[in-house]
Amino acid sequence: MTEFIGFVKLKGGSGATTHVINFAKYQQKQGKNTLIIDTDYSTISATRRFFTNKELSDKIKPENEATSLFENNSNPTPLQVDERIWLIAGNMNLSNEEDRVKQGMGRRYLFFWAMKHMAEIQEKYDYVVFDPHNDNSMITQNVLLVADKLVIVADVDNDAMDLIPEVMKNINVIEKIEINPMTMESLVNAKIFVLGNKVKHVGRSHVQFKKDFEDLMKQHPDLFIGFVPDREMIHLTKIDNLSIFDLENQAKYQDASHRKFIKQVETIYQKICEA
Ligand SMILES: Nc1ncnc2c1ncn2[C@@H]1O[C@H](COP(=O)(O)OP(=O)(O)O)[C@@H](O)[C@H]1O
Ligand SMILES: [Mg+2]
Repeated sequence: MTEFIGFVKLKGGSGATTHVINFAKYQQKQGKNTLIIDTDYSTISATRRFFTNKELSDKIKPENEATSLFENNSNPTPLQVDERIWLIAGNMNLSNEEDRVKQGMGRRYLFFWAMKHMAEIQEKYDYVVFDPHNDNSMITQNVLLVADKLVIVADVDNDAMDLIPEVMKNINVIEKIEINPMTMESLVNAKIFVLGNKVKHVGRSHVQFKKDFEDLMKQHPDLFIGFVPDREMIHLTKIDNLSIFDLENQAKYQDASHRKFIKQVETIYQKICEA
C-alpha cells in the first residue's frame, strides 16, 4: 500500500523540506519509489532543489504542477527528478487559488484525486510525500486530510513545543468535520509524529530542548520519534542538492560521529515507515 506522508512544520526554516528530500533519498536507497508533492507556495523549496530558476520556467509545465491537483478531474503528470523520485512541482501562485478551492471541494481535492487514481498511484509509488506551507489554508488542510502519517518537524526554538498543540488542534477540527456519511467515521486518520530538528551540542536552549524532547520520548514514544542534530552534512542537501545518503560513502564522512548521525536519521525514517 502506498503511504501518504506529510512533513508539517510549525514555522519556516524548521527543516521540513530537508527531511522531505532526505526521506525520498533514503527510500531510493531502499529501492522504493517516492512522489514528492510540493504545496509550499511560499518558497517552493522542494521544487527548487531539483530545478534552477531558469529551469523552473523552461521545464515545468502547468500539467506538472500541484495547482492542477486543485482542479476538478485533473491528474498532474509528475516529473522524474532523480532515480526513483518524482515531483509534482510547486507554484508560488497556488495561494491565489484559495478562494476558488474554498468555494469548490474545499479540503477534499487531494483526497478525491488519491481515491480516483489510487490504482495508478499504488502501482508507481511506495510513498507520496507532501511538503506543505506552515499555515492552515485550505491547500494545507487538503494535505492533513489525505495523509496517512503526519510528521511535525520542530526545530529548537522556545516556541516550537508551544506550537505543536496548534497543529494538533487544526487536525482535530478537520477530524470532526470530515465524516464519511455512510459510516460516520472520520476521513482523517493520520498518525502523528514529532521530529525534533537542528539540535546543537552546546547552548542552554539546545541542551534544554534535547532534555525536554528526551523526556517526551520516554512519556510518549509513539508520538515523539526522535531528534536530528544540527549538522553541516544535512545542510548540504540545500547548498549542493545532495542528501546525506549521497555523501555517506565519501571518505570525509566515514568517522564515527558522521556514521552515528546518519544512523540516527535512518532510525527516525525507519520508525516513520514502520509505525
Ligand atoms: N538538522 C539540520 N542541521 C543543519 N541544518 C539543517 C538541518 N535541518 C535543516 N537545516 C537547514 O535549515 C534551513 C531550513 O531548512 P528547510 O528544510 O528549508 O526548512 P523548512 O522547509 O521547514 O522551511 C536550510 O538551510 C537547511 O539546510
Ligand atoms: Mg520548506
